[in-house]
This record gives sequence, C-alpha cells and structure tokens, in this order.
Amino acid sequence: MNETNSSGEPNPITQEAADVAVAAALAAFAAATTVAELKLARGEHSGEGSAFARLNALMRQVPKEQKAETGKFMGQARGRIEGSYKQREAELAEAEAAARLLEETVDVTEAPIRRIPGSRHPLTQLQDEIGDVFIGMGWEIADGPELEHEWFNFDALGFDPDHPARAMQDTFFVDPPERHLLMRTHTSPVQVRSLLDRDLPVYVVCPGRTFRTDELDATHTPVFSQVEGLAIDRGLTMAHLRGTLEHFARQMFGEEAKIRLRPNFFPFTEPSAEMDVWQPHAKGGARWVEWGGCGMVDPNVLLAAGIDPDEYQGFAFGMGIERTLQFRHDLNDMRDMVEGDVRFNKQFGGLV
Ligand code: PHE
Repeated sequence: MNETNSSGEPNPITQEAADVAVAAALAAFAAATTVAELKLARGEHSGEGSAFARLNALMRQVPKEQKAETGKFMGQARGRIEGSYKQREAELAEAEAAARLLEETVDVTEAPIRRIPGSRHPLTQLQDEIGDVFIGMGWEIADGPELEHEWFNFDALGFDPDHPARAMQDTFFVDPPERHLLMRTHTSPVQVRSLLDRDLPVYVVCPGRTFRTDELDATHTPVFSQVEGLAIDRGLTMAHLRGTLEHFARQMFGEEAKIRLRPNFFPFTEPSAEMDVWQPHAKGGARWVEWGGCGMVDPNVLLAAGIDPDEYQGFAFGMGIERTLQFRHDLNDMRDMVEGDVRFNKQFGGLV
C-alpha cells in the first residue's frame, strides 16, 4: 500500500512496514532470556540483512519530497529498536548478575559443623596392649566381677578377719552387710576364681577396675585399675616370675627397662616382693618407681582352690595400670585419667 508522491512514484518505505519491523524486533527482545540471546535477536532484527536493514536500504528510492519524513520515522523506528534493546539488555544483565551472586553466596556467619570424634580411653588402650603382651606368650585373659564377695577378695587370699585392709576406710562394702559384698579392692580375687574355673596349668592375666575409699586428688583415685597375673604349673620358681616381669617391663617401657624386687608382705604370696621399675628418662632424672606387688602363690591359696601345693606351684603379680600410663607418659595428675576429657584422650591416639 505504497503512498505515491506528487510525481506519481510510490514510496517504497512505509510507516506500516517500519512499525512491523519494530514490533518484530521488540517481540524478539522481550522473548530473549539471556544477554547472549538478546544479542542474537538484535543481529536478526536490526543488523545487516535484517528486515529493518533491507527496508532502510530502500531510502535511496524514496522520492525526494518524502525523504525527510521517511528519514524521520525510520530514525524513530531505529531509535525504538535501540532503546528497547538497551532497556532489555540492562534488565537481563541485572538479572544475570543477581542470579550469579545468589549462586555464589557464602554465609560467613553460618556456624561451622565441627563433629568431634570420640576416642578410646588411654587406660582401655593400655589394658588391651597389656593383654596382647601376655597373649603373645600364650597366656589367657581372665575376668571377674567388680562387685565381689568378701570371701574371694579377702578370705581365700589369706587376709585375717581383722586385717586392716578390710576396714571401712579402705573398702567399699555394699549393703546389706550380711551378704558380704564389696567393690573389689584389687584384681587378686580373680586368681582364686581362675583356679576354681580352669584346668591346670593356668596362665592368666586379668586387667580390670578396682575400688578403694580414697579421695580423688593428683595421686589418688577411688576407682583405678590393675592387671593381675597368675601362673600355676609344675616346677615354677621365682626365676620364672622375674623373667616374666622383666619381659613385661620391657614391653611397657622399652628395651632399657630394668626391674628390682624388694621383700614385702602379702597374705596370699610367700615370699612376696614389691616390684620397682627403672625409668631412665623420667623428667626429674633417672629413678626407680614402685610398679606393683608380686610373689610366689601361698600354698594356702592353692589349698583354698583345691590344688595340691606339693604338685603345683606358681607366681602372681599385680600392677597399677594408671601408674603404668603415668610412667610411660610422664603424667603427673591422676585426675586427667578420670575426667574423660576427649582432648586428653585424643593425645594417645585410638580415635574411633
Ligand atoms: N593385690 C595386690 C595389691 O593390690 C598386688 C599383688 C598382686 C601382690 C599379686 C602380689 C601378687 O596391692
């Protein structure tokens, strides 16, 4: 529907054609969802070879007297396309920046998740290690109750009824008194239980918890642990006891470890000895430290378990496990071992 000019020539560029090109461009810009798509749409609708460009190229054929008017509406059309492009470009660029920011959000105030792994208690680890030393020599692990009968804890071990160790200040007796129950004060009752339970010969160690009415301080704790050892066979002597303890000490404290036996008394061993271990690298300098008690099993203990002492003999020993841990690591406060603070425990490895 080309208008004609006064000379009768048709104007090849009409306002309608320009409007159609503009409308197509605007629709394409609105449909673009990214800046990249928008750029493509601009190429298609206003770039070289586009409908708008082709229309514009007809300008040369526009009759002279219509050139100004045509040039004006074509200029406006280009202006609308450019304006629409700029506006849409700004919108999309902003949306893309916002999306990127959202994607890269880091909440610096968010509390980090620190899951602190637990750790096996160093005393438990040491008990296992001690067990392994003896299993390596063919011994067995024995077990007994922490709530014990007075007969196993004292009578069968030769403690007289008026022995001071039975007195209230050392022993946790458990009500009612006529049941004669107590919290075992040492692991030695396991000696008697093992002899009653097992066939001879017997080679057992028993690591476990023991109880005495001490106040908790740097050097005492009412709940502590011991490892008991018992060997009953034909022809065992003090030399076997010494050799076993020496091997044990080396496994615990290194090849340089030495032991020393000092005469002592226990109602269930005869002879009895206190055993010291040599600590060459202690903080305050090399020294002997008391590690535990030991001796040849008293014939009366064997008799209490129905064993003929003329046929079978043996030795027994008992060490504090807390002391062992203290000597190995130069620890000076018993309370660290009792409190169960995971930061203390973790230093010994054994993470679970
Ligand atoms: N049971 C004794 C104590 O607790 C130690 C010991 C064990 C002594 C075995 C001799 C033989 O002191």
